Amino acid sequence: MIIAIDGPSGAGKSTVAKAVAKKLGFSCLDTGAMFRSVAWQADQLGVSLEDGEALGSIARDYQISFQHEPGDPAPRKVLMGGVDVTSQIRTAQIDRAVSSVASVPGVRQALLEQQRRIGNAGDYVVEGRDIGTVVFPNAAVKVFLTASNEERARRRVAQNLERGVGSTDYEEVLADIIRRDEADSSRAAAPLRPAEDAEHIDSTAFSVEQVIDRICQLAQAARDSE
Ligand code: DC
Repeated sequence: MIIAIDGPSGAGKSTVAKAVAKKLGFSCLDTGAMFRSVAWQADQLGVSLEDGEALGSIARDYQISFQHEPGDPAPRKVLMGGVDVTSQIRTAQIDRAVSSVASVPGVRQALLEQQRRIGNAGDYVVEGRDIGTVVFPNAAVKVFLTASNEERARRRVAQNLERGVGSTDYEEVLADIIRRDEADSSRAAAPLRPAEDAEHIDSTAFSVEQVIDRICQLAQAARDSE
């Protein structure tokens, strides 16, 4: 079964995806980490963000993999072509570069194939921007998770502080969130938008536990109707 969680940056998708996966015994797939890995590799190779062809080749040629610890649905490590990039893909520099990379159709196509291959191998909570619309349009559960810009910026700062990587300047993070939403929603290829049959949840209005419980209810209902 696939549970698709889409929504803008900082809406709480990762936290919710991990908790739902843990409760249901599913694995998690963070598709944003895959776009970030391509952006990181482009930087390593000195590939310009304008060079769509070269960015597409990176996404096709490098295998992105996730290392899991037994019993933990969230991967401990993200590997790009075998190199551990877990922390390097969370820097402010990658935050700035990644939406250009994500707007390249060749990158999206290559990652779509990797995402489907991973997700089809088991029960997954998959988080991203186009999971319910493009990657897994037949997902059993589709959620579109949002929160106010300010709340999302506060959460991203807290997350960066905890991880010890990325900007911890609230105004900088808020500006980046607004800029990235605009880029992700207005691009031609698989823009950020809710699937028609997605359940909209505004996480500003609910506690994390309420959001998790609601998604687990939806999964149970989907399972009962199978
Ligand atoms: O969720 P995140 O902030 O780690 O995502 C990083 C970038 O990747 C973000 O700018 C949007 C893009 N992305 C995308 O276009 N499609 C996805 N399925 C996931 C992420």
